[in-house]
Amino acid sequence: MDLKVEPKSNLKGEIKVSGDKSISHRAVMLGAIAEGKTHIEGFLTGEDCLSTAKAFQDLGVKIEGVGEEKMVVHGRGLNGLEEADNVLDFGNSGTTTRLMMGILAAQDFYTVATGDSSLRGRPMARVTEPLAQMGGSFEGRDNANLLPITVLGGNKLEGIKYESSVASAQVKSAILLAGLWANGVTEVREPSKSRDHTERMLEYFGAEIEVDGLTVRVKGGKPLKGNKVVVPGDISSAAFLMVAAMITDGSELLIKNVGLNPSRYGIIKALQKMNGNLELLNERELNGEPVADLLVKSSQLKATVIDGDLIPLLIDEIPVLAIAATQAQGKTIIKDAKELRVKETDRIDAMVKELRRVGVEVKEREDGMEILGGQKIVGGVTCQSYHDHRIAMSMAIAALIAEKPIVIEGAECINISFPNFADLLKSL
Ligand code: S3P
Repeated sequence: MDLKVEPKSNLKGEIKVSGDKSISHRAVMLGAIAEGKTHIEGFLTGEDCLSTAKAFQDLGVKIEGVGEEKMVVHGRGLNGLEEADNVLDFGNSGTTTRLMMGILAAQDFYTVATGDSSLRGRPMARVTEPLAQMGGSFEGRDNANLLPITVLGGNKLEGIKYESSVASAQVKSAILLAGLWANGVTEVREPSKSRDHTERMLEYFGAEIEVDGLTVRVKGGKPLKGNKVVVPGDISSAAFLMVAAMITDGSELLIKNVGLNPSRYGIIKALQKMNGNLELLNERELNGEPVADLLVKSSQLKATVIDGDLIPLLIDEIPVLAIAATQAQGKTIIKDAKELRVKETDRIDAMVKELRRVGVEVKEREDGMEILGGQKIVGGVTCQSYHDHRIAMSMAIAALIAEKPIVIEGAECINISFPNFADLLKSL
């Protein structure tokens, strides 16, 4: 599907973005392996989270309201999942794959997992290696690095102390989830803090979990209890609209009910450092997660350096931050972000190519990019999405300030995380 976006200023209104992707995945996962029912409100009906729900249905879990904002997961307890009679298809979803590997490694049955062509090219050894150290058995191309991967099952897992070389919530979560079935305590330490929704939700579901700086420990064998999860708006989706309001003239948006977990707060910090006109209103807490409304207005942005420990706190927002950087005074440097090369597509390569296509000069780095601000976005071209939702949406936001409309090819991928993105933009 092609999406044509015309230049537009004066974005005004009060909006709500769709539910948080990370929290939606985890609510279904923990609900499925907990005892009793889990009620989920505000579930993200994007394709990635639907892949998680479908996988658990294939493993024998009853879920009411799949594809709707309200869902009920009938938990089967730690020992209640059943062998699927077919291959599990995780679509485009890295989170589903990596977290499920942790759960599947601990089951006493056999599973084969696969996904779309993007997912089949993404590295999975980062989870299968530590899970194998715990006693899990995997087979797959490149030493169980690439999907399709077979999880042999039938192994009793042992708790390990794992020092991760990447700050990845998916790696941390896979190990912690496997730790629920392991003998003794499982410990993960990461080099800098990645999103901590798994830790928060495990605690909320009654697990024995302890966070000590960059180290997290979970005790095996303790049953989880089903709970009610109200999913806040996704800050990663809100980021597109925050940047849209800041770079267009005469704009003022109130984005309601956005999750503001400190481990996802990087985009707020970066935009504040860039002189973005942004206020947090009505700060509160929803099932262990901080939430607020965001008031965002047109801004005179200035350049900044985005690097180090800030990177994992805004990893998914870097493509749209690159759009903000084109309008900021001075040179913005994004570095230490090599992880972007193994996302749904190589996001450094994709953003460099698409920015150049719309007329922006950008310097590619192995671990990021450098963008001089105050550049015109010429537009009048067709951009590629690389079947990556965040690339497609970033270029749609660039189109708002272009001289001529931009068409985004393959824009259906936006349904992966933000199904009503185009309608919401139109409504503004
Ligand atoms: C996610 C973690 C991040 C992020 C992804 C969602 C999660 O990946 O990019 O969109 O829900 O755990 P990494 O943890 O691999 O950096």
